Amino acid sequence: MTEAEKQLKYNQLLKEAAALLDGENDTIANMANLAALIHESMGFWWTGFYIVRTDANDTEQLVLGPFQGPIACTRIAFGRGVCGTSWQRRETVIVPDVEQFPGHIACSSQSRSEIVVPVFKDDAVTAVLDIDSQYLNTFDKTDARYLERIVRLL
Ligand code: SME
Repeated sequence: MTEAEKQLKYNQLLKEAAALLDGENDTIANMANLAALIHESMGFWWTGFYIVRTDANDTEQLVLGPFQGPIACTRIAFGRGVCGTSWQRRETVIVPDVEQFPGHIACSSQSRSEIVVPVFKDDAVTAVLDIDSQYLNTFDKTDARYLERIVRLL
């Protein structure tokens, strides 16, 4: 896919996402539909959300939320893996080759590259959107820019 084709696809996706979430304020329902929409339109390997939750020891963790694709790890600690790093840094993390990312958590051996985008509410990270690709170097600044706009719809 060329850069222009990617932008075209994301522009369409952004419109569809806005229409899909319009009038619905349940976050889980919206995450579920967003994961399905992004996954289907872009043909990714795994697309889903990890949600910041407090466990029995009052420790915050990421817990698996709505997703599309193969089964995945359920809990990720702050600062761990790509997801926990994005949460800690409060910014999008692009990993061109998961084998080169220290501490990457391999939920699937098929995953070769990854992007994680934080979801904010009132300046706090409340979840992350995690997307895996079967191919190396799938994600760039265009993905980051559009996915950041898409999660702002939540
Ligand atoms: N690879 C992620 C874990 C989640 S799975 O990819 C679905 C990470 O390193 O945080």
